[in-house]
Amino acid sequence: MRHTEVWRKLALHPYPAGLVIATKVGPLFTPDGGLAATSDPAALRPLVEENLESLGLDRLDLVYLRIGGIEPPPHGESVAERFAALAAMREEGLIRHLGLSHVDAAHLAEARAIAPVAAVQNHFHTAKRDDTEVLAACEEAGIAYVPYFPLGGGLSDLTGDRMAKVAERHGATVPQIALAWLLARSPVTLAIPGTGSLSHLEENTAAASIVLTEEDLVDLTTEQAQPIRTPTGP
Ligand SMILES: NC(=O)c1ccc[n+]([C@@H]2O[C@H](COP(=O)([O-])OP(=O)(O)OC[C@H]3O[C@@H](n4cnc5c(N)ncnc54)[C@H](OP(=O)(O)O)[C@@H]3O)[C@@H](O)[C@H]2O)c1
Repeated sequence: MRHTEVWRKLALHPYPAGLVIATKVGPLFTPDGGLAATSDPAALRPLVEENLESLGLDRLDLVYLRIGGIEPPPHGESVAERFAALAAMREEGLIRHLGLSHVDAAHLAEARAIAPVAAVQNHFHTAKRDDTEVLAACEEAGIAYVPYFPLGGGLSDLTGDRMAKVAERHGATVPQIALAWLLARSPVTLAIPGTGSLSHLEENTAAASIVLTEEDLVDLTTEQAQPIRTPTGP
């Protein structure tokens, strides 16, 4: 069963009013179970239609175009044809809002010349903070910036002396401080931690009410995290 069918059949349906479902197109499943990025705009329509069908919707709220592989965003690669294909589907009424994922500032500017961009989902967390140009562009344009792997995604151990110190100061956990830092980093940031645990879900939700002080932010600015494994797919 595809994850979108799981959302519909086991988790979310009947959809409550106000629920916003975001999906991502671009990566394709390969026969060996891996993922590959498509550069073919014609490949996107079947993916959107599949999401509509599996979610039982007439229109998708937010569809991200995800480009590139697991390595840093493909600088210099044009998103124009693929984004225009999604923009056409938006014009048809199949999509409400468009987003981009795994992009640099040039990709964002190129896409914005074609159609409005509502959200950007890029790799960013306390131990990976180098996406400042895209974040600044999102702030300036009022675009939601959605850090993926907000808790390191199992690739980076976000725990460190300073993280632990700030967590202790707030009577919080390190993941909560990692999320509070993302929310404090910019008013356009949205946190999307993944979890299969109800207690982690409650803990992560509570992180939204943690207000970090200047002292905390200074401490967290100098924190370093250790890689614990290498990425395997988008
Ligand atoms: N656009 C892209 O290319 C891309 C790539 C990767 C991910 N994403 C998106 O990013 C979002 C998050 O991804 P992710 O779930 O892989 O990474 P993540 O949120 O950084 O990390 C999830 C991991 O953290 C653990 N965790 C969650 N809350 C915790 C807590 N309070 N205390 C301790 N451990 C906790 C989870 O384990 P438990 O289940 O035990 O809580 C899970 O192992 C998803 O929506 C995903 O689709 C996008």
